Order: sequence, then structure tokens, then C-alpha cells
Amino acid sequence: MVFLQGMTLENHSGARAVLKAPWAYRMLQALVGKSRALRHLHESVWSIQPGFKLIDIGCGPRPMLDSIPFSIDYIGIDLDAAYIASAKAQHGNRGTFLIGTTKDYMDDPRMHGADLILCNGVLHHLPDLEVHELIDFVAKHLKPETGRFTAIEPCHLVFESRLSTWIMNQDRGRFVRSEEAWKQLFSENAGIVYRTRIMANMIRIPYFHVIIDCWKKQ
Ligand SMILES: C[S@@+](CC[C@H](N)C(=O)[O-])C[C@H]1O[C@@H](n2cnc3c(N)ncnc32)[C@H](O)[C@@H]1O
Repeated sequence: MVFLQGMTLENHSGARAVLKAPWAYRMLQALVGKSRALRHLHESVWSIQPGFKLIDIGCGPRPMLDSIPFSIDYIGIDLDAAYIASAKAQHGNRGTFLIGTTKDYMDDPRMHGADLILCNGVLHHLPDLEVHELIDFVAKHLKPETGRFTAIEPCHLVFESRLSTWIMNQDRGRFVRSEEAWKQLFSENAGIVYRTRIMANMIRIPYFHVIIDCWKKQ
């Protein structure tokens, strides 16, 4: 069955339906080695500095607050109310947790001047139109010059094993794109500059990810 969440299409058919429960989602993440992946991302990709304003789009039920400095001004946004409730129950005193999408907070002054906007495993849930809206949000709210947006998304390679293709196609997100397609989406916004990098073996299953970094155009 396909659920419409706002404009978002997600595949919740078969065994995927159980992932709507925050505990099941957390268990799957533990199985695929999410903690190890998070350590690597902290050390080599995100570089979160004390005092940063950090917006975590699609923060999910278990935001990364255990592993970042207390001085971070953290805003987590997720359209799933149960995930936001779970995040608040764990970390309610450490940040602001908001239900909705970037479209809902486009004109919210709390978003201005972000040092880092993260989007982990979210864009492949969104059709092109919603990705464009999210990039508009990024272009509007990133701090000029130093502010950075980083997304990490599943990505099909020009050549990959059938097993990898099959596993990535089991994702609840219906928009696992090729690197070329990810680049195309980001190249269509004149307000940003971006780069992509491919990452293999980040988790314990044969999956590929693209890291998309972008900055406000000066
Ligand atoms: C694969 S999960 C990733 C969660 C978290 N970022 C992580 O790395 O564990 C995708 C998350 O994006 C949320 N989501 C999907 N579409 C969204 C949208 N348009 N705006 C905000 N959150 C969204 C889902 O509810 C879900 O929590």
C-alpha cells in the first residue's frame, strides 16, 4: 500500500509497515550498523562544531543528540508525529522538535542563519517537486558563506550487483535515484553550489549512498 503523507509518497507494503513503529525502526537501524555509520559521519563528514545552529530535516525517532555537544542549537523537523513524540521523549530538553515539512517552516524566523542543515535518508522519500521545495528552504536559511547542507541518500550506481539493486528497491522511500539524477535536482537551484561523493559499505548490507553537500552561492 502507498501512503500519502502531505505530498510525500512512501511504500509501507508488506514487512515495511512495521517500521512505522519507532521501536521497529530503531531495531532495524541497530541491525544494519547505524551506530558505526554515525561515528564515521561525525568524524569524516559532518564536522559539527560547538555552538552551531543545526537543523535536522526528517530527524526520525532517534535523533543524533547523544553524540553532539550540548551547546548545539538543535531543531529537528519530521512529518511523522509518532517519531517526533519519540524524539521529544528522549531529548525534549536538548532542542526544538517540530512536526511537518520544510514547506511548513519556510518563513519561520527560528530557521534563519543555520550553520548546518542535515538531511539523512529523507530526500529519497520525496518526489522531485518536494526536493526542490526543500532545496529552496536550504537556500533561504543557510548562513551565508559558512553554512553547509549535507544530505546522505541511497544511490544507484552505473554498475551495481543485482542484490544491491534489489535491496535498495525494498526501501520505503520510492525515489532512490542515480548519482546523475541527484546532481540534476541540485543543479536546478540557482541559489546554491553543490558537490556529490559516493560512499560504499557505510552499513552492513550491500548498499550505496551519495553524500550531497551544498552551500549558498555567494
Ligand atoms: C529513513 S528516515 C531517516 C531518519 C533520520 N534522519 C535518521 O537518519 O535516522 C526518513 C525520515 O524522514 C521523514 N520524512 C519523510 N518525508 C519528510 C518530509 N517531507 N519532511 C520531513 N520529514 C520527512 C520520515 O518521517 C522519517 O522519519
